[in-house]
Amino acid sequence: MMAMVKSINDANFGGRPYVTCYTCHRGSQRPKVIPSLAAQYGEPPTDDPDEIEVLPGARQTVTPDQILDKYIEALGGAQALAKLTSVTAKGTYEGFDSDFARVPVDVYAKAPNLRATVVHMAGGDATSTYDGREGWLGAPATLAPVPLMPLVGADLGGARLDAQLFFPGQIKQLLTNWRADFPATTIEDQPVQVVQGSMPDGTRVKLYFDKASGLLVRQTRYATTAVGTIPLHIAYADYRVLPGIDVKIPFSWQVTWVNGQFTIGVASVQPNAAIDAARFAKPAPPR
Ligand code: HEC
Repeated sequence: MMAMVKSINDANFGGRPYVTCYTCHRGSQRPKVIPSLAAQYGEPPTDDPDEIEVLPGARQTVTPDQILDKYIEALGGAQALAKLTSVTAKGTYEGFDSDFARVPVDVYAKAPNLRATVVHMAGGDATSTYDGREGWLGAPATLAPVPLMPLVGADLGGARLDAQLFFPGQIKQLLTNWRADFPATTIEDQPVQVVQGSMPDGTRVKLYFDKASGLLVRQTRYATTAVGTIPLHIAYADYRVLPGIDVKIPFSWQVTWVNGQFTIGVASVQPNAAIDAARFAKPAPPR
């Protein structure tokens, strides 16, 4: 299939990835062959906020700075955010790899860009670590063919961004080429304002802020792969003020990508606790 897709693109589109797996498969194992009259005449599907794009020639009514400033204020303000130096959280994880059973998870984050997640799966710990420069996914042998996988490319850039977003006081410096001239859209019926930026490697990221509260409710980012561009999005919810420090963080986030989905729910948090540096070091391969 990969060779077929490459030859279709080479033969017809100058090698540009205009035809991808999704062009035919649309998320199903066997592409449909006969058009569905029900689909053609039924209710049109609701717009997917991930698919919203800057309109060519659109006039900017709100600037990226305005939206990002409102976000920083909504979280507690730049001064309060600067006082948050680490987050140690315990909660639950449910995902495709835990068969959607709820299992315990520990999350560690240290400013400006260190992060580690340890999911206590039935078969052993699954880890994701970013040490400020490199990142790894570790999984018990029952869950993954490779016990410790280094993150590369867009996965590494994404891990860096996710670590940085725990401490968003400097959010304007995290991405470049900021744009805010998107058409109006909603997420779960709530109007959102969309800002787009680029990571250092050019990976595009769209950030969706609730228009009323100013809080970040979704991040959608794209990776260029051998089979075309693929999306990943993270939905943030349940913002709460951290004890003893007037800063809000999301107590729940759900990560969705083409071959998996998981949700983390925070039950308890300790802000600014000392975290052993070894937490963020390259993990030993799990057994
Ligand atoms: C031009 C349309 C088209 C594109 C693009 C395409 N496929 Fe397919 N694919 C098909 C068709 C049609 C079948 C079903 C063949 C059959 O029924 O035997 C199929 C079958 C498959 C199957 C087997 C499913 C099964 O149940 O046996 C897999 C796996 C698959 N495709 C993966 C991919 C992947 C991965 C890509 C992207 C690299 C891709 N396909 C791109 C048309 C396409």
